[in-house]
Amino acid sequence: MSQMEPKPEAAKPASSELERRLEAARLGGGEARIERQHAAGKLTARERVELLLDQGSFVEINALVTHRCRDFGMESKQIPGDGVVCGYGTIDGRLIYLFAQDFTVFGGSLSETNAAKICKVMDLAMNNGAPIIGLNDSGGARIQEGVVSLGGYADIFLRNTLASGVVPQISAIMGPCAGGAVYSPAITDFIMMVEGTSYMFVTGPEVIKTVTHEEVTKEELGGAATHSAKSGVSHFTTANDAACLQHIRELLSYLPSNNLDSPPQGKSSDDPGREEPALDELVPTDPNKPYDIKKLIHAVVDDGELLEVHAQYARNLVVGFARFANQSVGIIANQPAYLAGVLDIDASLKGARFVRFCDAFNIPVVTFEDVPGFLPGTQQEFGGIIKHGAKLLYAFAEATVPKITVITRKAYGGAYCVMASKHLRTDVNLAYPNAEIAVMGPDGAVNILYRRELQAAGEQAAQLRAEKVAEYRAKFSNPYVAAEHGFIDAIIQPRQTRAHIVRSLRQLSSKRESLPPKKHGNLPL
Ligand code: HXC
Repeated sequence: MSQMEPKPEAAKPASSELERRLEAARLGGGEARIERQHAAGKLTARERVELLLDQGSFVEINALVTHRCRDFGMESKQIPGDGVVCGYGTIDGRLIYLFAQDFTVFGGSLSETNAAKICKVMDLAMNNGAPIIGLNDSGGARIQEGVVSLGGYADIFLRNTLASGVVPQISAIMGPCAGGAVYSPAITDFIMMVEGTSYMFVTGPEVIKTVTHEEVTKEELGGAATHSAKSGVSHFTTANDAACLQHIRELLSYLPSNNLDSPPQGKSSDDPGREEPALDELVPTDPNKPYDIKKLIHAVVDDGELLEVHAQYARNLVVGFARFANQSVGIIANQPAYLAGVLDIDASLKGARFVRFCDAFNIPVVTFEDVPGFLPGTQQEFGGIIKHGAKLLYAFAEATVPKITVITRKAYGGAYCVMASKHLRTDVNLAYPNAEIAVMGPDGAVNILYRRELQAAGEQAAQLRAEKVAEYRAKFSNPYVAAEHGFIDAIIQPRQTRAHIVRSLRQLSSKRESLPPKKHGNLPL
């Protein structure tokens, strides 16, 4: 045996020291706190990581990091890992980086060192072009550490911003997320919340009571239902931790690993040329009758599968991911079954953010359009529909990914321009034979154009109105004027929608288009 080789007796204590430390890291805040976590209906950070990743793929980084705080008796409370589990692994065989806050260790609060761990995996994700997933469950800034903890948050915010549009960033909120801590998830691409156990707010109920005298519960203020339906902060609501983690896996299946990659191919054997005769009947000829645009989407995408984003928010616009002939697409569709599919502030924000995500990550955008216009009213005007509607317009205009639009019925006024019209560099614009493309609907148009004649017509007014409406409808309420101008590339039979979209996507698969050189545009915020 050479002098350099350790004696067998010496190896034992060294490895048991390692075991002891790793075991302490594994235990986190200890059995009692783990039990409390389970009793609250939550999994622990490590259990979540195991469920999220492909089995056995997790590699932990910095399991032995400890905090450096020497105030408030913290020097005697050292837990290896310091309240966040970080590392990398695979989902469906693809590399991802993640961090999972461990609520059993100082309430998952953010210390200087645990922020550094998070920053390290974020840097690795950027350098290696892989998605970053954050499982948030934290009491916020570690109170004992003061400003170094706040600095840690700001370090994370900076990385979120730099990573935006480079690698997909997904935040799961699986416990409290309060104070400035909400701003890291807010910068990321998607937020998922778990019903009943997660909440997000900038200031909690107590502070609100003191400042504004409003009384509100945690759940009402920032629970999953609030953020999915009212504020739109959250994109997905899930029933429990396991469902949340499964949803992240599903979402990732539509996304590329970074902005230079293409999304992964699906595995469907759905016939690309499949006809759907029922679609010929789906859209009512009466322009005032509603129908559910989701029926159309389900009928045309691979295996009827749509991963809806923001399902409860601004339901007058449907957005989500689907596939055509195994190619990932982003779908954006007016929903005539809700508020007649009108565009309002919330729908504009929802659509704009989604289109920009798709564009950043090379996901073609397929638009289904049936829109009576922008919602009129003081509430909308005072709320800034001008600048918010402009965001949607800007997003479609700026997008250089393949863009395909199908007008299923109404395309009126400014909304015609906004919803991925030909004029905004949309590659393929299609319309159904009954589509109506005009400045406004026939009744509104006749009221304006013939106001004086109608007033003077007395008893004949109804007949005159009917004649003028028919005349207007014949002239403008059809897709032919737009087709004659080349604004519509083809008028298609509804049953053949899928085949047309698949063909268009194939045609556009090598599309390259760019923006004029600039630092960045000035989106109307
Ligand atoms: C240190 C914390 C902590 C924190 C919780 N703990 N939050 N330790 N810093 N921020 C500890 C508790 O002392 C407790 O330790 C354990 O975590 C669990 O907390 P409990 O209160 O027992 O749990 P629960 O009843 O479930 O309540 C969870 C909670 C509450 C709602 C999150 O702990 C809470 O209100 N914490 C403070 C939240 C907060 O105000 N944070 C600062 C926000 S401002 P033991 O040892 O008893 O188990 C902020 C600024 C960010 O974050 C700025 C970024 C720009």
